[in-house]
Amino acid sequence: MRGRNTAFIILPGRTDVVMCGIVGYIGPRKALRVVIDNLKKLEYRGYDSAGVAVVENGRPVIVKKKGKIADLESSLDGQVMDGQLGIGHTRWATHGVPSDRNAHPHPDCTGEVVVVHNGIIENYAELRRELREAGHKLASETDTEVIPHLIEANYNGSLEEAVRAAVSRLEGAYALVVISSREPDKIICVRKDSPLVIGLGEGENFVASDIPALLRYTRDTYILDDHEMAVITREGVQVKDVRTGEARPKEVFTVTWDAGQAEKGGYAHFMLKEIHEQPTAVRETLRGRLKEGGVSLPEIPEEVIRDARRVFMVACGTAYHACLVGKYLMERIARVPVEADLASEFRYRDPLIGPGDVMVLVSQSGETADTLAALREGRNRGAHVVAITNVRGSSIDREADAVIHTLAGPEIAVASTKAYTTQLVALTLLALRFAEVRGGDREQIAALVEGLKNLPELVQEVLDTEDEIKELARKYSSSDDVFFIGRGLDYAVAMEGQLKLKEISYIHAEAYAAGELKHGTLALIEAGVPVVALVTQPDLYEKMVSNITEVRARQGRIISVVYDDDEKAREFSDEMIRIPRTDPLLAPVLAVVPLQLLAYYVAVERGCEVDKPRNLAKSVTVE
Ligand code: AGP
Repeated sequence: MRGRNTAFIILPGRTDVVMCGIVGYIGPRKALRVVIDNLKKLEYRGYDSAGVAVVENGRPVIVKKKGKIADLESSLDGQVMDGQLGIGHTRWATHGVPSDRNAHPHPDCTGEVVVVHNGIIENYAELRRELREAGHKLASETDTEVIPHLIEANYNGSLEEAVRAAVSRLEGAYALVVISSREPDKIICVRKDSPLVIGLGEGENFVASDIPALLRYTRDTYILDDHEMAVITREGVQVKDVRTGEARPKEVFTVTWDAGQAEKGGYAHFMLKEIHEQPTAVRETLRGRLKEGGVSLPEIPEEVIRDARRVFMVACGTAYHACLVGKYLMERIARVPVEADLASEFRYRDPLIGPGDVMVLVSQSGETADTLAALREGRNRGAHVVAITNVRGSSIDREADAVIHTLAGPEIAVASTKAYTTQLVALTLLALRFAEVRGGDREQIAALVEGLKNLPELVQEVLDTEDEIKELARKYSSSDDVFFIGRGLDYAVAMEGQLKLKEISYIHAEAYAAGELKHGTLALIEAGVPVVALVTQPDLYEKMVSNITEVRARQGRIISVVYDDDEKAREFSDEMIRIPRTDPLLAPVLAVVPLQLLAYYVAVERGCEVDKPRNLAKSVTVE
């Protein structure tokens, strides 16, 4: 896999979005201690609840709680568990709010089969109905809970066969780990689209969703691939194709990273890891939302969309820049008037928002004080409040009338990257839904739905040009000032590009509507000043070229972001960053990626603290 600027062995397979933490153990040690210790190695990613299950005196004992592992441990105080088979889980909620009963592990009706899961079961509603009709009692709101009941329903003396039968009914992404007191000599796990790693020991074996949870005990691992299952006993590990049952030979992958590097999946920083998670984050956010020629957004009642007078999109920072794209898309595709506003400004201007208006709050953390205050202002004035957030159970998630979740997984780096691109995806889905309901152009809607389907692969294509961006960064890392210019959607992306650069490299950067240059800023352009020019909007192409010409006439250096089939770009560019062609309305998702990488590598060149830039916090929970 390209792009990991380290000397480490590269993990095979796609960069996966690991939302939840999974661990499992079988061997001579007390499983509870091993499971808790290994879960703690996964805390860095963020979670909202935790749980363990240990087979004790012939039965699985489950202890699970909303909150941190420390809360789980205090509720375990005094409980002696000597069992040597156990699993554990830290949950990043996707279906069902954070709560004790939604925490994993989840049992079947008998309590003898217990499962932890990372991923999303798309057809869980149908399976829940089917299981309930068959008499199964489901206790949580989660998608995961259908799995132990499906295993129970298919159990005929072989846990392995029952798991295979259950998995054959699942649609979506899953990393599953299953134990049962019926067969307490094994752990069974299955992987599809969510990572699972087996830790190989002497007379003991381990499983985890991520390598850091294994390193205390072993560096020898099997990395499971999609559609593989493993039957893990103390003595050994059998890997099979879960669909056919055929054995799959696996090579031992020995981890050479230290614990710190392992948390970053082998990347030098969380920011770079999260930039590379974007193909999967975009894929997960789209999952289940695209249907033939349209989109599925049941969270927002049709009448709210149909009757909406205006839309207000309100946020801070990067999320606000996403709103600038959202405004453009909503007005262009659905022909609905949109105001995009900074949350810190919105609530102090006695906003003209009221009943019949729809307010869209965008927030990765769901806790930004200004955005939360804006939500309350809009709701108090009668607007229907929709949130786009990455964190289930956050304040904004809980207080909105409807929520569209980005499924980027935990974003650790202060500089927001995968949250931004998944916010763009969510806003595009919203604009398309509005267009569908309000009689938009069906052909345009269908074309954009097709374009969305290809985005994950196209984002990966941009990531594959990382080495060229790295070279560019090295060339311009000593600049004092960098300007970003664009028109239309390119101007919105220029706003995000300048923020990325300045917030982690501390270089002064500014974005300008390209047409504005001659109204003042051009005075700052002199020989060698780098100007990043985004040129992805065909209807504004010629205008952009003339603005670029103005810059070059003052010896400014043009770094253009253009489509890879743009033959003319060479004529007006000192440097070119090429992205694959897509519908111009979807171009922001691709155009921002090289700007993220440019900011990252400039910051690395300048020796900056990339993941934790000075003066900044990941979530600004104060006004
Ligand atoms: C983005 O790189 C910044 N860290 C910051 O602007 C951030 O986007 C802003 O604080 C909003 O945060 P939120 O999305 O969690 O509300």
